[in-house]
Amino acid sequence: MKKFSPRVLFVLLITFFFLQVLLQAQDDFDRQPPRQVIFTPHDRSDSDPQQVHISLVGKEHMRVSWITDDKHVPSTVEYGKEPEVYNAKATGQNTSYHYFLYSSGKIHHVTIGPLEPSTTYFYRCGGSSPEFSFKTPPPSFPIEFVVVGDLGQTEWTRSTLAHVGSKDYDVFLLPGDLSYADTLQPLWDSFGRMVEPYASQRPWMVTEGNHEIETLPFLSRHGFKAYNSRWLMPYAESGSTSNLYYSFQVSGTHIIMLGSYAEFEAESDQYKWLVNDLAKVDRKKTPWIVVLLHAPWYNTNTAHQGEGESMRKAMEDLLYKSRVDVVFAGHVHAYERFTRIFNNEADPCGPVYVTIGDGGNREGLALTFKKPASPLSLYREPTFGHGRLRVVNETHAHWSWHRNNDSNAVVADEVWLQSLTTSKTCWRDDFDQNLSSPHLKDEL
Ligand SMILES: [Fe+2]
Repeated sequence: MKKFSPRVLFVLLITFFFLQVLLQAQDDFDRQPPRQVIFTPHDRSDSDPQQVHISLVGKEHMRVSWITDDKHVPSTVEYGKEPEVYNAKATGQNTSYHYFLYSSGKIHHVTIGPLEPSTTYFYRCGGSSPEFSFKTPPPSFPIEFVVVGDLGQTEWTRSTLAHVGSKDYDVFLLPGDLSYADTLQPLWDSFGRMVEPYASQRPWMVTEGNHEIETLPFLSRHGFKAYNSRWLMPYAESGSTSNLYYSFQVSGTHIIMLGSYAEFEAESDQYKWLVNDLAKVDRKKTPWIVVLLHAPWYNTNTAHQGEGESMRKAMEDLLYKSRVDVVFAGHVHAYERFTRIFNNEADPCGPVYVTIGDGGNREGLALTFKKPASPLSLYREPTFGHGRLRVVNETHAHWSWHRNNDSNAVVADEVWLQSLTTSKTCWRDDFDQNLSSPHLKDEL
């Protein structure tokens, strides 16, 4: 190994120091020191399933997704209600992709069902061990969602997931930034293996963040190659033409996953799809509407200021007129909860906005909030953690935010939400959800 003279070493140290100062000065916000990425190795045989995760498809079906290195493994899932007794079997699709010098394994997607609600199923992928199990969501209230954004794959991620897994829930919601692979494709595989113990047991419903884009000149000009191949969501079932935005209904709750990195202006496919999707929700049967997206529309952190503004201007009216109850965002690596807002003002008929980008990414936390605090911002804290939305019944839901440093029993922030369909001010029985309704036009 080459030895440096003290003089050269001194120059190198000075250069390194100034480079660090320069890099920090380029950041217009502070973060906690980042932690290293944990690489989760592949320790099964080539034909065994790895990176198993499940997602909801319609009311009674579940999609099982997994990867095998062996390209001959069939895309089949066997399942049943007792361990190792598989009295049902389904066959699905598979895909794979190339990204520069990387070739993915065989990516399987198999939809199984019809399934019974609140039931544990045991399943096996491609005829190979190990056996996995999951629990289907309940048929009606109460239902509990876990919400975590900007997850990554660091020690902080591990801590967040352990915290999430230590208390039961029904569905996992992720408003973007999953693996932080950032073009290094083996990190997508590593991420899949890290989350498998959780994502194989409860449905993981995700939408894309900026770290999913991964465009490459000539090779992946449209981006989202890994994300769309690996994390197939039920977009076709909700009338969307893109995996980047979709909706689904579960237990009286309509969840809309918007795409911050898909076109969203009034002439765009996403906008038109959203208009139709909102108009289809029957609030008598589905009183709650929850929206997730990546870049927050409201944000008092100094990080990522204004990045969600053009989307807010394009789509906020639609959510407001439809009386969306709550909007979750990620991107900013901190927690922040706002009051009900419309057009930058407190409004009892607007959604509650929550930023929950504190899952455990490798970039660290966004520590600095703007001062003085906006009266619209009711709670803000840069600490890693996760949130839980427990929809208790048609009228009430409880939102809580839990730090990784505390036990689950400790609630750092909480609020009771009342469905806007119960509000005399914001909702009338003759409220027509057709967005062209004169009632709605009158209101604005
Ligand atoms: Fe992000």
